[in-house]
Amino acid sequence: MTLAFHALCIRHIIGLDILMDEIIFISLGLLVVLAALKMAFALLTGLSSFKTGGAMFTTTHRSKIKKILEVIPMHPGQVVYDLGCGDGRFLIAAAKRYKVKAIGFEINPWAYLLSRFRVGLCQANVSIHFQDFWKADLSEADIVFCYLFPDVMERLREKLSKELKAGAKVISCNFEMPGWKPEKIIIASHPTHTDPIFIYTNLLWRAQEDSNPRPADS
Ligand SMILES: C[S@@+](CC[C@H](N)C(=O)[O-])C[C@H]1O[C@@H](n2cnc3c(N)ncnc32)[C@H](O)[C@@H]1O
Repeated sequence: MTLAFHALCIRHIIGLDILMDEIIFISLGLLVVLAALKMAFALLTGLSSFKTGGAMFTTTHRSKIKKILEVIPMHPGQVVYDLGCGDGRFLIAAAKRYKVKAIGFEINPWAYLLSRFRVGLCQANVSIHFQDFWKADLSEADIVFCYLFPDVMERLREKLSKELKAGAKVISCNFEMPGWKPEKIIIASHPTHTDPIFIYTNLLWRAQEDSNPRPADS
């Protein structure tokens, strides 16, 4: 009886040992996979930051988005772009409120995955592309939203000037489009998020550029 009991105990202990080995093995495996994923992510994020001209993944505060959507009426079916759409919050809000066709480009993998996740959750008419927006054709756009960095604004102005149709609007958070006179400058109703939001309309900037061409345009 005592012998049988001891044998049972030993098997139990050995069983536990095997279980512990398995747990350690699986945990180590998970750690290796997580470390590899983290490295891949850091590498992709690092590579993408070369293309962003300094624009890191930060988000526009909801109070600003609310203000923009109040001030800029949109119509169902209009095409709205966010150039560097982050977590997709502007596009989701615009698509939900106005039933527009919202399209975003994002090259930061973390922001891209987050935006896809958020779009999946709310099922709005938003499509997000893991793509460099400099390579996108914006000629269908009715409204272009961006929150980028000063370093890229001159180049962006040239792209928008070439591609956007008459009457298209450009909304730029925080940073002005060099050489264009804004149609409006709006500020969110929030105690701290008070950076300016610049609104431009294509017909206006065309007239300005025609009467005052910049060296880069000629
Ligand atoms: C300041 S965040 C703004 C995010 C979002 N538009 C918002 O307002 O909440 C700028 C984003 O643009 C992305 N970005 C910058 N240059 C890009 C490019 N050439 N193509 C695609 N995404 C770009 C960055 O990865 C970053 O997530």
